[in-house]
Amino acid sequence: MNNTLIIFGGTGDLTHRKLLPALYNLLYENHLPEDFAIVSIGRRPYDNNIYHNEIYNSLQKHTRHPFKEETWNKLKNHLYYYELDFTKDEGFCDLNDYLNKIDTKHNTNGKRIYYLAVAPEYFPIIVRNLHKSCMKTEVKPNLVIEKPFGKDLASAKALNKMIVSAFGEKNIYRIDHYLGKEMLQNIMVIRFANAMFEPIWNSNYIEQVQISSYEDIGIGTRGNYYETAGAIRDMVQSHLLQILSLIAMEKPENLNPETIRNEKVKVLKALRKMTPKDVYKNVVRGQYESYRKEVNVDSNSNIETYLALKAYVDNQRWRGVPFYIRTGKMLPKKTTEVIIQFKDLKNSLYPDIQLSPNYLVIKVQPHERIFVRFNAKRPGNKFIINPINMDFCQNCEIGTISPEAYERLLSDVMKDDATLFARWDEVEYSWKFIDQIVSAWKDVKPIFPNYEDKTWGPKAADYLLAKDNHHWINLDLEDEYENI
Ligand SMILES: NC(=O)c1ccc[n+]([C@@H]2O[C@H](COP(=O)([O-])OP(=O)(O)OC[C@H]3O[C@@H](n4cnc5c(N)ncnc54)[C@H](OP(=O)(O)O)[C@@H]3O)[C@@H](O)[C@H]2O)c1
Repeated sequence: MNNTLIIFGGTGDLTHRKLLPALYNLLYENHLPEDFAIVSIGRRPYDNNIYHNEIYNSLQKHTRHPFKEETWNKLKNHLYYYELDFTKDEGFCDLNDYLNKIDTKHNTNGKRIYYLAVAPEYFPIIVRNLHKSCMKTEVKPNLVIEKPFGKDLASAKALNKMIVSAFGEKNIYRIDHYLGKEMLQNIMVIRFANAMFEPIWNSNYIEQVQISSYEDIGIGTRGNYYETAGAIRDMVQSHLLQILSLIAMEKPENLNPETIRNEKVKVLKALRKMTPKDVYKNVVRGQYESYRKEVNVDSNSNIETYLALKAYVDNQRWRGVPFYIRTGKMLPKKTTEVIIQFKDLKNSLYPDIQLSPNYLVIKVQPHERIFVRFNAKRPGNKFIINPINMDFCQNCEIGTISPEAYERLLSDVMKDDATLFARWDEVEYSWKFIDQIVSAWKDVKPIFPNYEDKTWGPKAADYLLAKDNHHWINLDLEDEYENI
């Protein structure tokens, strides 16, 4: 359906590196509506020409498809810059007139999508201004809101109340860009389209689940933001709990967005509650050695740059199966992955041989890869059983680049499909889980920093698993292939 996308934060980093390159890629593949318009809003005194020049330069660096003048010229004809200080309400009625003119020019049937690509403290003021009477439209607009959605349950509730009263839940698209990633979309397919996995996806067969997302760099220039968020809000509340809910959800009755989100939210509701004592036992936080020297970071900061935790989903399917979550900055590698370890065979035919467990590994980034590790006989006269891998990598070959998460998300919001966006109750229950941890931390001052740069985090994270006779599983095929 034709529509006008209005980006607040049109001169910002997200728009330059992600949003406009995603729109370019969609246009390159003919995936944008027949007619559309993009209105980028910023404070800078630009005209369309200056803005186009800026975007032209960043598209050269950030598009997935080759940069073609022909595609750019098409995009340019639909791309406008509008100067506005969105904290001042007097500019909004003029903005509305301008958007109406754009609507007529591009046949967008009055359908608007407001995208808030700005710092979260501005969400309320923009929403209030968009709700002014002179901004009323016949067709209800969609609102796309970037993360972070609140900083705890109370602030998330307050923000939600405000945006729902202005736009209605049905028209709100809360971005968790991980949900647009190819391999996260693949989790449901792997689980529910395979007879070899679906029947054994439960506590009878699964020993443990590990969900990890770590980076080999520090926080860079994001000190201001990171000091208010830390690893728990930046990664766990949104991305990693979303991954957990996709791994643990029951099979939805159909593919309707609401049915899928109903099942995901049941998982978040079933996460076992933790007392402060449980938090002390089950959650490990860390800070890398050089963090306090980063730009815009307090020299006595107690913000965590590393977090490991053990969670349980208290339902029939997952009784007793630990879900370990781990995230950190300044670790030795950059990876996001899910590892499912299956239980050891009972009554093995080879009691004298130590068999390796079976694993299913879903790598989300940098490589998008699925592999299954199982045991087989090594060729030769001597009887040896070895673990082997069946491996599928969809972006390992040079030249194959999967769509960026934002391509899928922008395309979906234009089609009014909210499956890959977080519904309010998902956000609410994940904040409930996070808040109990953060509130337990208030009374215990951490001894930070507690891990050296480029190491695997604090030792306590290893003890957390060792208590259960588990360890962090490192299955990296790149390393194995290099060593062959
Ligand atoms: N960057 C990323 O990779 C990334 C990834 C995930 C999520 N996010 C989220 O996306 C949002 C935007 O991040 P960002 O990195 O793009 O921020 P940014 O580079 O700092 O850009 C901020 C934008 O807000 C505009 N702005 C600020 N105050 C304004 C005002 N009073 N009136 C009009 N425009 C105003 C700026 O316009 P002027 O330049 O004209 O002042 C600029 O376009 C944040 O919520 C962030 O958490 C970003």
